[in-house]
Amino acid sequence: MSSHVCDVLVIGGGIVGLTAAWRAVEAGASVVVLDPSPGDGATHAAAGMLAPVMEAGFGEKGQARLGTASLALWPAFAEALERAAGLPPGAVGLETAGTLALAYDRDDLVALRRLLDLHSGWGLGSAEIAPDEARLREPGVGPRVAGAAWVPGDHRVDPRAVQVALSAAVAAHEILVRRAAVSLTWADDAVVGALDEAGTAYAAGTVVLAAGHASGSLFAGAPTRPVPGTTLRLAADVDRAPAVVVRGTVQGRPVYAVPRPVRPDGTREVVVGATSDERADDHLTRAGDVFALLRDVRALLPGLDDAVLLETVTRSRPGSPDNAPILGWAADGLYLATGHHRNGILLTALTAAAVDQALGVAPDGPAAIAAVEAAARFADPRRFADAYSTTRGGTA
Ligand code: GLY
Repeated sequence: MSSHVCDVLVIGGGIVGLTAAWRAVEAGASVVVLDPSPGDGATHAAAGMLAPVMEAGFGEKGQARLGTASLALWPAFAEALERAAGLPPGAVGLETAGTLALAYDRDDLVALRRLLDLHSGWGLGSAEIAPDEARLREPGVGPRVAGAAWVPGDHRVDPRAVQVALSAAVAAHEILVRRAAVSLTWADDAVVGALDEAGTAYAAGTVVLAAGHASGSLFAGAPTRPVPGTTLRLAADVDRAPAVVVRGTVQGRPVYAVPRPVRPDGTREVVVGATSDERADDHLTRAGDVFALLRDVRALLPGLDDAVLLETVTRSRPGSPDNAPILGWAADGLYLATGHHRNGILLTALTAAAVDQALGVAPDGPAAIAAVEAAARFADPRRFADAYSTTRGGTA
């Protein structure tokens, strides 16, 4: 059995794990990342909505606070990442153009108004607008839409571009090992490393567990479950594609369309999503899900009928028992960064600030201080300590 020694071992090479790895590298740590296929989990399917408002439903005030705190960090996070990766400004596709929320029928409008009331009570900005005003903002809105809202504070980024940038930012450090971790290594009540599938042992001062929905199989105190979702990628002519994020409900079913920048050939990629299921993570796309997503998105944006279907992808979000993230120390030597559920991309910037603090780097400015405070309040892994064994072992 060979062995490696490092300051920080990150288990998971998706957007959250690589963010932790990048922050650790920046803090001067020696780092190893274990992942058999980095970026091929939830990051690969994610549309990239940065939506602390419209993703906040009843009972999710804490998530809204986390999301708002994280969104405030995104511009500086994107800029620093692009610089570290040697990429031009704008490479990760951060766009702060707002979001249009649509209600297809009268019942959808009742639900939308309830949500707007909820948000207004929480101080989150959104306002109902008439369908005609919605069409002024987005001419592709269909003729049968019953109501709309403008959400100026919900934005977007390109998760695959962020993953590429993170990979570039850590590439020079050659820290990536394409193998799965199979167990954590404990010494008394502290985590001191991990073992990979080839039997290689890693000794680390800190292990960051960022294995998405699989985190719970390595540590019961990270009680994650897979929440599979399917997204579609379309290529649409620019005059038939939305220019801002459009999301809504169609007879109670949620759907969204997230545009990417216009390409030189005059088309845009539009990511359409997403299903959300409580079932096993099998990466298999159901025909009925593709049908339903296309049916519902064309009800809101009929111009997408002419788009080319480029890709279907099904991957699993990491859900926790309360659907809030699990972010913080769980044992000596073990830091958890998982359970981001529907908001993994949004919460990446907050995760970076939290990891910085965990590694002894003081938060840089009021927004980072607010983010680490929100993480400590709403994402502390110790909330699961009573229900799950937080020493040794996988899923209970
Ligand atoms: N944040 C959107 C989704 O998880 O589908």
